[in-house]
Amino acid sequence: MMAGMEITLNAPLDMHLHLRDGDMLKLVAPLSSDFAGAVIMPNLVPPVTDPGAMLAYSERIAAAMSGEPFSRYMTLFFTAQTEQQLRMAAETPGFFGYKLYPAGITTNSEGGVANLAEADSTLNMMQDMGIPLLVHGESHGFVMDREAEFLAVYRNLATRYPRLRICMEHITTAAALQLLEEFENLCATVTLQHLIITLDDVAGGALQPHLFCKPIAKRPGDRDALLQAALSAHPRLMFGSDSAPHPRCRKEACGCAAGVFTAPLALPRLAELFATHHALDNLQDFVSGNACRIYGLNPVQKQVTLHDTPMQVPTAYRSYGQQVVPMYAGEQLSWSVKR
Ligand code: NCD
Ligand code: ZN
Repeated sequence: MMAGMEITLNAPLDMHLHLRDGDMLKLVAPLSSDFAGAVIMPNLVPPVTDPGAMLAYSERIAAAMSGEPFSRYMTLFFTAQTEQQLRMAAETPGFFGYKLYPAGITTNSEGGVANLAEADSTLNMMQDMGIPLLVHGESHGFVMDREAEFLAVYRNLATRYPRLRICMEHITTAAALQLLEEFENLCATVTLQHLIITLDDVAGGALQPHLFCKPIAKRPGDRDALLQAALSAHPRLMFGSDSAPHPRCRKEACGCAAGVFTAPLALPRLAELFATHHALDNLQDFVSGNACRIYGLNPVQKQVTLHDTPMQVPTAYRSYGQQVVPMYAGEQLSWSVKR
């Protein structure tokens, strides 16, 4: 690689982020501060279901960021809503959209949707009001097929609600990318890990709990298709880290929690990945431009410069009595944030 490469990104955005609450929030929020903003997931315990709780959570995030400018695009945990409830949400500062989880599909999603038919009137009103629907798209089938099986649901939603903005969150398959081509009202996020790893990296050798997440990493062909789409800045594909911290003791355990923690290294590793594939010019659209265009966002002004100077990834991030292990713990990346 040529020495002395760098790239300055305008307002990089993380379109799918778990910041948790309490001491974990205090530990991880500052580790996302190279981003100009993020779409914040609502799967707290209990989930964020009403605008008041959402606003209070947004303020706790601001406090944990200690005054660092950061656009907080807040989501509410989807359940059937009345028109009045939707209006209340839409009028709440910082509200971005609803996140739909099939009941019990992932961490803290027990109160999710069991029967989509019950959501029909809510989805109709959301499309009329221009409120985006973000979806965790997995069935309850065999783990490797869950996303593929859910594509029929996406197809159904995209057809039934042609003006609803539907985001397929954290896609992991080539088949999901194909579906994206079929419907203008679909968009998608993809994580860092799903551009890089396959199931082999998770479970092909010694089990790697820190790479275990939902949806699980898939086949090489899926990873390659996702990477090509990201590198070419597919206009409806956005970066969403799905950075999902769990306490170390919940990851290195029997019954390992799902989630990969990537927030502090996502931008350097993306720059390295795009540089390796001679696609640095497309990184701006992938990490910000596409999202701003799709959703009409206007995030806080923030620039971050990345350069091909090594970053040593800590073996763990620790404070407030919390400990969380990142992807690439203890390893060196070849790009870093220029301070
Ligand atoms: C997420 C979490 O831990 O909250 N876990 C994950 O594996 N991605 C939930 C989610 O987005 O599925
Ligand atoms: Zn997530």
